[in-house]
Amino acid sequence: MPSQDELKAMVGQAALHYVVPGEIVGVGTGSTVNKFIDALAGVKASIRGAVSSSQASSERLRAAGIPVFDCNEVETLSVYVDGADEIDALGFMIKGGGAALTREKIVAAQSRRFVCIADASKLVQTLGAFPLPVEVVPMASARIARQFAALGGTARLRMAGSQPFLTDNGQQILDVSGLSIADPLQFESSVNQWPGVVTVGVFAHQKAQVCLLGTAAGVKTLAFDAA
Ligand code: 5RP
Repeated sequence: MPSQDELKAMVGQAALHYVVPGEIVGVGTGSTVNKFIDALAGVKASIRGAVSSSQASSERLRAAGIPVFDCNEVETLSVYVDGADEIDALGFMIKGGGAALTREKIVAAQSRRFVCIADASKLVQTLGAFPLPVEVVPMASARIARQFAALGGTARLRMAGSQPFLTDNGQQILDVSGLSIADPLQFESSVNQWPGVVTVGVFAHQKAQVCLLGTAAGVKTLAFDAA
């Protein structure tokens, strides 16, 4: 049985199949994406560079010798490769465990195809067992926590030691447990309207078109219909 790390490396390598030669690639954030960046380094001569969803990924890309472009320099990307904290059978996801959800959603929105890379533990029937990350403007965090409580959720402010954790955008993260998200499209649209919510970590409107799932039997490709 391959380890979780080996499964991540397998799907990171498999994602190269979706990289279009001569183009700029959208690159997400996290330990699975790190494996993709390592694989991408091996073919860097065949691509123009990358648009990245976090400072951490940008640093890793540059260290691998891959040029990093600003999102505003690029109109459309053919492909965005990123991990997930949960993905369901329709390609809807929870993301943001690595706190990069806002930039991830921005790059995903600019991309024609979202290729999710994940080990098999991330495939779920219903989203919500993983605490939902929500990036919020600090002055709204207590009210937003109360709004989640009204839905049956428990929101905790993500901390970095004794201080609230701050995202690359200088905002805070609430991690909301106790939710069962039966209708991800409706849930995402609704929470996005709450004043002070920067980004909710449900990726339903920017869902995956493909998931490369690392399993003991190898990489399984799941293809999803449009939302
Ligand atoms: C970061 C993310 C990641 O894609 C998600 O947390 C999965 O990470 P990993 O590949 O380390 O399990 O959304 O904000």
